[in-house]
Amino acid sequence: MEIVNLDPSHAVPLDRPGCRGMTTRPVVNDSTLAAAGFLFEPHATSDQYSASFPQMLVVTSGRGWVSVGAEAEPVRAGQAVPLPPDVLHRFWTEAESLEALALAWSFTQVRSLVVVRDGTELAHRAAEWFVRHAREAIQARGRFLVALSGGSTPRGLYEQLASAEFRDRVDWRRISFFWGDERPAPPDDPQSNHKLAYDALLSKIPTPPEQVYRMEGERAPEEAARRYEAKLRGVFGAEPFPRFDLVLLGLGENGHTASLFPRTQMLHEKDKWVAAEHIDEIGSWRISLTTPAINHAAHVMFLVGGAGKAQVFFEVWNGARAPADLPARLIAPVQGDLMWLLDYAAAGEVPHVE
Ligand code: 6PG
Repeated sequence: MEIVNLDPSHAVPLDRPGCRGMTTRPVVNDSTLAAAGFLFEPHATSDQYSASFPQMLVVTSGRGWVSVGAEAEPVRAGQAVPLPPDVLHRFWTEAESLEALALAWSFTQVRSLVVVRDGTELAHRAAEWFVRHAREAIQARGRFLVALSGGSTPRGLYEQLASAEFRDRVDWRRISFFWGDERPAPPDDPQSNHKLAYDALLSKIPTPPEQVYRMEGERAPEEAARRYEAKLRGVFGAEPFPRFDLVLLGLGENGHTASLFPRTQMLHEKDKWVAAEHIDEIGSWRISLTTPAINHAAHVMFLVGGAGKAQVFFEVWNGARAPADLPARLIAPVQGDLMWLLDYAAAGEVPHVE
């Protein structure tokens, strides 16, 4: 497995457990934030949030500045600066633009990139991580709540999980399956993301049917979105957003993920957990988890394979274009891990260290 260091002068090893790889992070300072529409005022740290502050890992080749409240403080390469959750919360509620939101998200989350040799190893590595996250969640909370992705890339992962090597390593009766998005198609339609997972995995494991929460693609999309959100609220209760243990995502060549497509209204959704929209670019309706619903997960894992994704991945990772054009840039767990798992072909644009 190759650990890829994107830019030696701007990356420090991640020493957080479970996170391996390198990360880069824009140096954020007053002028950057002001330009993005954020004005910091002294804030009272609320006791409303959990004690574990999300760490912001600041990576810079020189000195940078972070202004949190009235105090601007110098930071140095690799220093982790705790951000009071009030500040994070305000990022989310007050972001005036997608650019500010993307900056906020990039400001608050640690992300990792791991590159493996090919599609076979991609599926195998993803299955290893799926099993690890499942076992951790089941041990800690007695259940594992995972949102699956669609498209073609995850088929290999689902097949691995159903294989003799992995099938007996997870208590499937403790897992509840959800979807990140769905097409407007019945569950037995080749287009259906449910069918992809059912044929490759769900039909081969003992997860009770009542723990498989399908998006009803056969219904009118907006009704299906409302019904799915009601289902989710039944599982996650009165939380402001669902906290999935793991959300699996793919990356489209146009920078979409789940069904968050470029320049759509859905990108601006801050309250709903599930939305439906007619995507003009593909001439079809889609149902999707919204950005906040994804960004409140404990772990988010992108699976990206093939040379066709190299350019768009590089642009997403380096923030080359506005998040409205690259919705995958909006994915950054508020209090969780973001893992990018690529094969060499998809990481083609990224400078490799030998
Ligand atoms: C979908 C997916 C979508 C997918 C990307 C990548 O319903 O199509 O949820 O977001 O992950 O389009 O698709 P591939 O894996 O086929 O490249």
